[in-house]
Amino acid sequence: IKIGILISGGGTNLQSLIDNIKNKYINGEIKLVISNKKEAYGLERAKKEGIETLYIDRKSFNSEDEYNEKIIEEFKDRNIELVVLAGYLRVLSKEFVKAYKGRIINIHPSLIPSFCGKGYYGEKVHREVLRYGVKVTGATVHFVDEGTDTGPIILQKVVEVKDNDTVEQLKERVLKAEHEILPEAVKLFCDGRIKLKDGKVIILR
Ligand code: GRF
Repeated sequence: IKIGILISGGGTNLQSLIDNIKNKYINGEIKLVISNKKEAYGLERAKKEGIETLYIDRKSFNSEDEYNEKIIEEFKDRNIELVVLAGYLRVLSKEFVKAYKGRIINIHPSLIPSFCGKGYYGEKVHREVLRYGVKVTGATVHFVDEGTDTGPIILQKVVEVKDNDTVEQLKERVLKAEHEILPEAVKLFCDGRIKLKDGKVIILR
C-alpha cells in the first residue's frame, strides 16, 4: 500500500511508522511526507530514510480549499492509497475528506470522545486531562470524516494518569501508546483487515 503522510511537528509518530515498515511489521511504503511547517523535525526523519518530503506553505495559497487541492494533487501524482495524519495540526477540507474517504487515519492523544474536537490538540489535551482529574486517558486511532476527531474509531489504548503527573510526563506516556496503536492500525489497513459496518470498525483478527 502506498502511504502519504501529513505532519506538523516532531514526527515521532512518523518515526514509529518508518521503523515498523523497515522491520516488515507494516506491509506498506511511505511515498511522500508533507508538512505545513518548514521546521518540522519530521521532515528530517523522512529525509534520513530517503523518503520524499514536501513543505507546502499555507501562505502561498488563497484559501484552505486551494491548499488542500495542492496536497490532493501531490498525493494523486504518487497514487497514494492511504493518508496518515501523524501530528498534523490543520483541519482537512471537505473535498480532501471526500477524495480519500475511508482512507485517512488520524492519531489523537486521548480516548475519543473525551478531550477532543476543536482546540484539543497537543499539550492542551493533557493539560485538560490533568485539570479534570480523570484517572485514565489514552490514545485513539480513527478514520477521518468531515468533523474534527469524529470519524469511526479503529484502535484505542488506555494510559494510566498518575498522581502528580506533569503535562510532560503524561504526554510522554501517551506518546508511547500512540507509537504502538498507529503502526498497528496502519498494518491492519494494509493487510485489509479493517472493515466498516454501520459506521463502526470491525477488525478481522
Ligand atoms: C502527538 O501528541 C500526537 O498525538 C498528535 O501530535 C502530537 C505530536 O506527534 N497528533 P509527533 O511527535 O509529531 O508524531
